[in-house]
Amino acid sequence: MNSFATSPGTRDILPPDAARWRAFQEAFAEVASRYGCSYMIPPMFEDLGVFLRLGEATDVVTKEMYDFEDKGGRRVALRPEQTASVCRAFVQHRPTTPWKVWYAGPNFRYEKPQQGRYRQFDQVGVEVLGVTDPHADVEVIALAWDFYRALGLRQVHLALNTLGNADERARWTEALAKYFRDHEEQLTVDSRATLAKNPLRVLDSKRPDDAPVIQGAPRIEDYLGVESAQHFAVVRQSLTELGIPFTVEARLVRGLDYYCHTTFEFVSTSLSAAHTAIGGGGRYDGLVEQLGGPATPGVGFALGLDRTLLACDAESVFPSPRETVRVFVVDTTGGGEALRVAAELRAADISTDRAFEQRSMKAQMKAADRSGAEIALIIGSDELASDSIVMRLMSSGEQTTVKRANLIEIVQRTLAVTDVK
Ligand code: HAM
Repeated sequence: MNSFATSPGTRDILPPDAARWRAFQEAFAEVASRYGCSYMIPPMFEDLGVFLRLGEATDVVTKEMYDFEDKGGRRVALRPEQTASVCRAFVQHRPTTPWKVWYAGPNFRYEKPQQGRYRQFDQVGVEVLGVTDPHADVEVIALAWDFYRALGLRQVHLALNTLGNADERARWTEALAKYFRDHEEQLTVDSRATLAKNPLRVLDSKRPDDAPVIQGAPRIEDYLGVESAQHFAVVRQSLTELGIPFTVEARLVRGLDYYCHTTFEFVSTSLSAAHTAIGGGGRYDGLVEQLGGPATPGVGFALGLDRTLLACDAESVFPSPRETVRVFVVDTTGGGEALRVAAELRAADISTDRAFEQRSMKAQMKAADRSGAEIALIIGSDELASDSIVMRLMSSGEQTTVKRANLIEIVQRTLAVTDVK
């Protein structure tokens, strides 16, 4: 018989990690709603055309897309990110602006799997549509910042840049292309290949041999008009006013093509090189229009859940919540009484577990211990005959016999006392 394991780049998220994932999303939900964002759930696959807008020369589109023809002959793709889907949803449903939404869930990119880089990876993110005000850029950055703080992360660095508006970006890209072509022989083979596809991305090269050429490359600041420069100035001033530290990094261009004006990345300084970008985002003022909607500005970000949790591990913060029941029922009379008692406790909102298979008293007590329960309720034939139950406090070993009729009330009272402690 064949046996199967997860596909490369995918993982089972088992207990207790899965509880940590849920707590992560709950923490994000709380911060996002503090900023007036509402939850939305885009579908996991869409018409391929939606995602082609991420940039026909980006790796995400050319190399990493999970696209296929469905049984109805439609060309569809598993979403590699959710910004394009949110914009498509905006075009489809035309909500009133500003439209501030948050989302959470898996994305799919056919990347080379390694620690912190998976083919199915989770993000949480926020998009704000319909606002050109640079304060919206600052709000989404502040939201992400607050969230990192809420997790307990301290070693997060904000890298900030601007790409100007569409025209300025295009003129700068042209100048970069010319400059890199003029210096092509000094570039590495890999960067020459990037140059042919997407000159902007050459700036992103981390290869030391490319550094001298990149150093002398045209800078966006020489291509910014007054309005774009002003927009970026307000973003910087406002971040400073809110006490959010950042550095401007002229080489930060991001991996998706839809960005203009503000772009940013959050880098964990507690992680090693391969997966230090724990979140990123920026403005994408042309995307809604490219998807067939009215000209609508947008700004947002997404955080990689997997990588952010690696950063949490590195800083020893945001541990998995302890998943325990409060009461464990031990029944050596066949299990029928455990069935009834557990049902009553659960109906009274008390988390309860029990042993099965009529195991020995010793085995059941061991299970009670392992469960982490504060109280074990022990039912033997004497108790069954006398309508009573032995209540054992697991921390002290103290035991009392309680009347079956008063059980729920006494358990509730006992747990209330341990709650206060
Ligand atoms: P992105 O930079 O492609 O941006 O992804 C955002 C974050 O998702 C990254 O910083 C990283 O933490 C995580 N991530 C990306 N790929 C992987 C992977 N293969 N494995 C694990 N984690 C990964 C976007 O996706 C944009 N939609 C962000 C955005 C929202 N821009 C504007 N609004």
